[in-house]
Amino acid sequence: MTQSGDGDKVGNYRMKHLALYSLGFSLMAPSIMAQAKLDFVKDVQPILQQTCIKCHGAEKQKGKLRLDNGELAMKGGKGGPVIVAGDASKSDLYKRITLPKTHDDFMPSEGEPLPAKQIDILRDWINQGATWPTNANANVVVSKEGTSGSTSIDVKLPEYKPSAAETKAIEKLAQAGIDVRPIAMNTQWREANLRLLGTNILDASIAPLKDVMGLVDLNLAQTKVTDNGLAAISGLTNLNRLHLELTGVTDAGLRHIKNLYNLTYLNLYGTGVSDAGLTHLAELKKLKNLYVWQTKITEAGIAQIKKTSPSLQVVAGLELKPIEKPPEKKEDKKEEKKEEKKEEKKEAKKEEKK
Ligand code: HEC
Repeated sequence: MTQSGDGDKVGNYRMKHLALYSLGFSLMAPSIMAQAKLDFVKDVQPILQQTCIKCHGAEKQKGKLRLDNGELAMKGGKGGPVIVAGDASKSDLYKRITLPKTHDDFMPSEGEPLPAKQIDILRDWINQGATWPTNANANVVVSKEGTSGSTSIDVKLPEYKPSAAETKAIEKLAQAGIDVRPIAMNTQWREANLRLLGTNILDASIAPLKDVMGLVDLNLAQTKVTDNGLAAISGLTNLNRLHLELTGVTDAGLRHIKNLYNLTYLNLYGTGVSDAGLTHLAELKKLKNLYVWQTKITEAGIAQIKKTSPSLQVVAGLELKPIEKPPEKKEDKKEEKKEEKKEEKKEAKKEEKK
C-alpha cells in the first residue's frame, strides 16, 4: 500500500519534530492517512474479502447484505442502506465495526474485531465517497480440492464486465500476437498463456496487461519477463493462477504480487526467489499451491510461510520433501485410534443398556 508507506515517512518525520509532545505515532498516523485517496481494489476490497464475505457474499447473505458486489452493497441489507457515501458516521456498516465487541450488532459477528487501521480505511473510504468500480465485482470461486496444479477455475458467469480500457488493452495485446481469451463461453473472465511465445515476451510486451482486470489465469513461464515487468500485474487482484517458473524473477519481483489476494496457485519453480521473497506472500491467504522446486528457498522459509498460511501446500521437490507429509500422517493415526476408542465405548454402553 503506497499510502501507508508515505504515511510512515511523514509520521517518522513528524515524530522527530514533535518528540516533546506525548503524541504517539498511532494517534498521528490515521489523521495523515485520512488525506490519502484510497484505492478500493487495493485498500478496501481485501478487508471485505477477508473478513466479511464469508457471511455477506455469494454463499451466505446474513442480514440480506452482500459486500462482494458494489451495486448490491449500496442497496444494503434488511435494514436498508448500510453505506452513506460521504458520511461514515451515518453508515450502519461503519457503526457496526466500531461498536463494543460485546454488542449484539457488532461486526464481524464472529472472530476478532477488525484492526484499527482497517477500521480507519473503511471510514476514510466511505467519507471519500465510497467509490466501488464496476470492474471490481470479483466473484471468482476456485474449487479447493484441486491439487498438483489441476485446480479448476469456476467463475460465477454474469458478474464481470470489462472496462473500455480493458477491451482496448486486449486488442493491443492481440495485435502483438498475445491472445487473452475468455476462459469459457459466455464469460469475460480471461486467461493468457504466454509460455508458448517464450523468449519473445519482454517486460514491454506485458505492460498492457495492467488494464486487464478480468484476468484470472496468467502463464509467464519461460518468458523474459523480469522483476520490474511484474509491476504490470500488481493490480490484477482477480488473478487466481500465476505461472512464473523458469523466468528471471527474484525476491524483488514478488513485491509486485503481494496484493494479489485471490491467488490460489503460484509456480516459482526454477526462479531466483529465496526465503526473503516468501515474506511478500504473507497476505495471500487463499494461496493453496506453491511450487518452489529448484529455487533458493529453504525448509526454514517454508516453515515460516506455513505459519501465516497453514493450509498451503508447498511443492519443494525431492530435497525438501520430508518437511511436508510425516506430521500429518501421525495425526491421522491418532485420529483413527480415537475413533476406534469411541466406537469401543459406544459398544460398551450399548452392552450396559442391554
Ligand atoms: C460470522 C458471520 C458474519 C461476519 C463474518 C460478518 N457479519 Fe455482518 N452480519 C451477520 C449477521 C448474522 C447479520 C444480521 C444481524 C442482524 O440481523 O441484526 C449481519 C448484519 C450486518 C449488517 C446489517 C445489515 C442489515 O441491513 O441488517 C451490516 C452492515 C454488516 N453485517 C456488516 C458487516 C461487515 C462490514 C463485516 C466485516 C467486517 C461483517 N458484517 C461480517 C453476520 C456476519
